[in-house]
Amino acid sequence: MNLDTRFPAISDLRKRARRRVPHFVFEYLDSATGLEDQHRRNMSALNDIHFMPSILEGNFTPDLSTEFLGRKYPLPFGCAPVGMSGIMWPRAEKIISAACSKAGIPYSMSTVATVVPETLAPTIGDQGWFQLYMPRDKDIRADMLARAKNAGFHTLILTVDVPVDSRRERQRRANLTIPPKVNAAMIWSMMTHPEWTIGTLKEGIPSLKFCEDYAKKSNEYNSVAHAGHIIRGQPGWSDIDEIREIWDGPFLVKGIQKVEDAQRLVDKGVDGIWISNHTGRQFDGGPASILALPAIRAALPDTPIVFDSGVTGGLDIMRALALGADFVMLGRAFHYAVGALGEKGPPHLIHILKDDMFLNMGQIGARTLAELKDHLVTRA
Ligand SMILES: Cc1cc2nc3c(=O)[nH]c(=O)nc-3n(C[C@H](O)[C@H](O)[C@H](O)COP(=O)(O)O)c2cc1C
Repeated sequence: MNLDTRFPAISDLRKRARRRVPHFVFEYLDSATGLEDQHRRNMSALNDIHFMPSILEGNFTPDLSTEFLGRKYPLPFGCAPVGMSGIMWPRAEKIISAACSKAGIPYSMSTVATVVPETLAPTIGDQGWFQLYMPRDKDIRADMLARAKNAGFHTLILTVDVPVDSRRERQRRANLTIPPKVNAAMIWSMMTHPEWTIGTLKEGIPSLKFCEDYAKKSNEYNSVAHAGHIIRGQPGWSDIDEIREIWDGPFLVKGIQKVEDAQRLVDKGVDGIWISNHTGRQFDGGPASILALPAIRAALPDTPIVFDSGVTGGLDIMRALALGADFVMLGRAFHYAVGALGEKGPPHLIHILKDDMFLNMGQIGARTLAELKDHLVTRA
């Protein structure tokens, strides 16, 4: 099968993933919250950023490599943390992390992954970033961080934009509850997607493996089904100091949109700011994620910045880099890819993004990522 003609765009991967995975699984991955307007705004605001092509630039090969937090990367993008990733396709965490590792780009493991850090360590190589949802219990958080570090995860991401749950109406309509309860519609959906179901049963029912390790030990949360409660930490500003003390490697805080917050985090010793609105999954009433970037970049000219939410191709990555991001992450796209094509999906996605960037940079005459901003169309 020629993947480049069958699935030339992320939208093709999404379409195929929708057919190949049970309905409740697709709704979990694809849905935002409320009317999903913020999700649409994320994408349309990116679309509104334009480049003016230069002509007669001669023969050149665009250089997509970059340096971020002291490491060299051949490409300026990677995989954002996605909880319950393994529900999208059997062994999804391993498949995606192996593809990222092979391409030399970062893979972020979520606290609520369906694997533990030690399981991913052999496939992830040197590309592991670890994402923490702040557990309430001080000993649990210290132990989680120690285990991630010992397993080789070198960069920490603390996510702070999930202070409470969100309604995610589409997930509810698909009968997805926490803890999950299997119902007739789900069983029917699994029966009609046998490849997903057989593979999933073979791997074992996906669950929050990392949290479960602590739920098993804890008297308070002795039900494995409630492992998710372990991470209902609702962190405050003082927690940043504590995490900074414990974690001696690069430390990013994810879910930032306000300049004042970004400034305060940097003052507290955080190494980088991750601008994100959780791709509209938490709150439907805010602005597009990309709108936060120019002001934060202007206020913090030397701070490493990651951007995500709504990226649908290589051109969007260029847009975020041109506005001042140093690195761009994608969540859903990697999971559409694995849902659509299994092991072949994530490498194909990386190829799509790289080729799209390569050709679009050639088109506008940008030789390096740093030159992208020179081609931006500035509006009055
Ligand atoms: C199904 C799903 C689960 C997610 N789980 C997490 C998570 O466990 N931790 C986290 O920090 N962000 C999580 N996110 C947010 C992503 O890290 C990222 O911010 C977002 O997906 C980027 O937008 P994009 O999907 O449009 O690329 C999740 C996103 C999705 C779609």
